[in-house]
Amino acid sequence: MLKPIPIKEDLFYVGVNDRTKHLFENLWPLPKGVSYNSYLIKDEKTALFDTVDVCYSDTFFHKLEIALDGKQLDYVVINHMEPDHSGSLGLLKSRFPNVQIIGNKRTADMVQGFHGITDGVKVIADGEELSLGKHQLVFYLTPMVHWPETMMTYEKTSKIIFSGDAFGTFGTLDGGITDAQLYPERYYDEMIRYYSNIVGKFGSPVQKALEKLSTLEINYICSTHGPVWTLPDQIEKVVSIYDKLSRYQGDEGVVIAYGSMYGNTEQMAETVAYELAQQGIREIILHNVSKRSHSYIIRDIFKYKGLIVGSPTYNNKLFPEVEYLLSKVEGRDMKNRYFGYFGSFTWAGAAVKRLAQFAEDTKFEVVGNPVEMKQAMQLDTHDACIALGKAMADRLKQDR
Ligand code: FEO
Repeated sequence: MLKPIPIKEDLFYVGVNDRTKHLFENLWPLPKGVSYNSYLIKDEKTALFDTVDVCYSDTFFHKLEIALDGKQLDYVVINHMEPDHSGSLGLLKSRFPNVQIIGNKRTADMVQGFHGITDGVKVIADGEELSLGKHQLVFYLTPMVHWPETMMTYEKTSKIIFSGDAFGTFGTLDGGITDAQLYPERYYDEMIRYYSNIVGKFGSPVQKALEKLSTLEINYICSTHGPVWTLPDQIEKVVSIYDKLSRYQGDEGVVIAYGSMYGNTEQMAETVAYELAQQGIREIILHNVSKRSHSYIIRDIFKYKGLIVGSPTYNNKLFPEVEYLLSKVEGRDMKNRYFGYFGSFTWAGAAVKRLAQFAEDTKFEVVGNPVEMKQAMQLDTHDACIALGKAMADRLKQDR
């Protein structure tokens, strides 16, 4: 029997861990699993904040009923309708037919569309308040963090922000729920991967949401994924991570993402990397796009300012896995990157042309001269790769 976990007096964690799924959204690897967080406030009125993926509804309802301990459930606040959080809403309504579903106008449309529920839905406006007794809720609409209906709920008495996906991470909660009960460093790379993979396109809405929250005093961040953040230095850190990522600000470093069928294009990548290291760049990450999940490549592209892409020509186009990666970068409206590129061909070149088009479309700052290699590396190609590595290093060092 799994019990709800008290976070503080009147606030209970009733979420679940998913160590079964291989892919989040059927796209992104989950080597460390993921949690679907749900919280209950018990006051004169009771309020639940989001539900969980329907696959885990049994465990969730079990925890919820123990936490309620015979009290009725008055409200369920839906901060986000994506089914990893709203998946159990239909079942919740069946079990608690008198529960009021709280959301904004867009939430209400989705509650009807996904669950066919139209009664007992209370539509709130931006800034509207709801009293639970000694706890006072304020609703902040934060569209596109990460769907159009997303909102956050602030509890004024204990200064809790129920933030939906914002400040979320991949990784299960293995015993500890709050940052004080676990080792937070374990989650930061997974937070960046979560942000870049899931929310990455929506930098500007995230900035607007952060601006909206900026005047609030926050003692607890209760996100829908990952730890509850309670320690002042950790709260500052997770907010700054989201702020930096949503501004598309990278650290000094270079991701070299390359495709290579027989190792010739890989030699170009290695040569560029060698020169970067010679020039004093320490964060150099080579990703073979055919082997490394794009989830991690995207994470690193969000982390570092420099991006160099290399590809063979394949069927008179880009190597397919490189093309697929580029579509993911473009799909996230990635900004503020220094970009270099190289390509290869055996009898007719197309890769470099396509990479030039990518540079134009993304408006990345092109660094150095693109390198195009016929068949295998000769001295001229080697020297051109060295020059490309040096140009990228020089550009990065200008920002020191
Ligand atoms: Fe965790 Fe956008 O759902």
